[in-house]
Amino acid sequence: MFTKKSCIGVIGSGAMGSGIAQVAATAGHEVYIFDSNASALEKAKKNLEASLQKLVEKQKITEKHSDAIIKNTNFTSELNNFKECDLVIEAIIENLEVKQKLFSELEKIVSETCVLSSNTSSLSITSIASAVAKPERVIGVHFFNPATLMPLVEIIPGIASDENIVNETKKLIDSWGKITVVAKDTPGFIVNRVARSFYGEALRINEEGIADIATIDWAMKEVGGFKMGPFELMDLIGHDVNYVVTETVWKQFYFDPRFKPAIAQKRLLEAGFLGRKSGRGFYNYKEGSVMPEPTKNKELAIQIFNRIIAMLINEACDTVYLKIATPEDVDLAMTKGVNYPKGLLKWADDLGVKEVLGTLNNLYELYGEDRYRPSLLLKFMGTNSKRFY
Ligand SMILES: NC(=O)c1ccc[n+]([C@@H]2O[C@H](COP(=O)([O-])OP(=O)(O)OC[C@H]3O[C@@H](n4cnc5c(N)ncnc54)[C@H](O)[C@@H]3O)[C@@H](O)[C@H]2O)c1
Repeated sequence: MFTKKSCIGVIGSGAMGSGIAQVAATAGHEVYIFDSNASALEKAKKNLEASLQKLVEKQKITEKHSDAIIKNTNFTSELNNFKECDLVIEAIIENLEVKQKLFSELEKIVSETCVLSSNTSSLSITSIASAVAKPERVIGVHFFNPATLMPLVEIIPGIASDENIVNETKKLIDSWGKITVVAKDTPGFIVNRVARSFYGEALRINEEGIADIATIDWAMKEVGGFKMGPFELMDLIGHDVNYVVTETVWKQFYFDPRFKPAIAQKRLLEAGFLGRKSGRGFYNYKEGSVMPEPTKNKELAIQIFNRIIAMLINEACDTVYLKIATPEDVDLAMTKGVNYPKGLLKWADDLGVKEVLGTLNNLYELYGEDRYRPSLLLKFMGTNSKRFY
């Protein structure tokens, strides 16, 4: 269905759209990129040139390849230029009504066979697809930031998506050197759902006064081998983004306490303490400020790690149990989308599924909160001494 000659359209030339366009043009496709804001389009053009220049300097690509990528990329303020596109990837503002309006406009411009896709992080693909006459040609393709560097792309069929279109789009994006996983159209798909516990349980441990933020961050790096601790990572992502994703996932899951946001993070957002980008979040990044030291207590660190990893594994289990994705795809998603040192189900095998279940059972008994209920799959695997791999 798609070939090297397929023409790719990208709508939205912000952080994600510009990266996605670069990926497609680098793979040799003719690309059209559109934005409703002329200065955003101009900025994306300059950024592409600068990014390619750096790659040439680092000898990652040749000058000739760089010229070809620039030639392949057509910046346009005319949506009519999308007539020739075989696949359109939308990466505009995260707003359902605005996306629906765009898709219904787009449908009148593109050919009958053009595949329409969205890079949405948190909206339902099915709801976006409901705005067009042929929802079978609409799917989700969720790239990670920065799209040029992060290998993972979640492929999300909507309820009405054509299976062949899903498979062919997956194949095309694989051919761009990306690692694709398929996820059911559910809140947060795989990564933005499973990763919630990394932040949520760390916040809860801190809220209860079990450990301070520096100690929790140190524990996850020291015992778990994570590149960054949860508080450092939340500060890097920005609380405007991280808190909003948590709240959106929580609301979409009908207020399931497993995804409940933390008041402490909401207060940071309200104060404008957005993290690194604003100079202050959980940590203070202003010049001259002293970073807090962790309490390097190995026993406490293991306790913290066991609790957070058990919650992460539990969510990974539920994602598999509810047929949102396969165990292999859940593990690939977390290692390739958010750089976890190990897939969570592989981690469960290594730690002992029975032990992980034991940790959750203890939490469930202690707190009596639904938040700590073990997934049925974890229960089954743990009580029958089974392994995922
Ligand atoms: N930033 C991330 O980390 C990330 C990761 C994965 C997915 N996403 C998703 O990708 C999408 C884009 O996010 P972003 O971070 O690139 O946003 P961004 O704000 O950097 O860019 C959005 C661009 O869309 C343009 N735009 C807005 N409305 C438009 C319209 N109606 N028609 C044409 N252009 C329009 C804006 O001018 C802007 O240039 C969102 O759906 C977001 O949820 C973001």
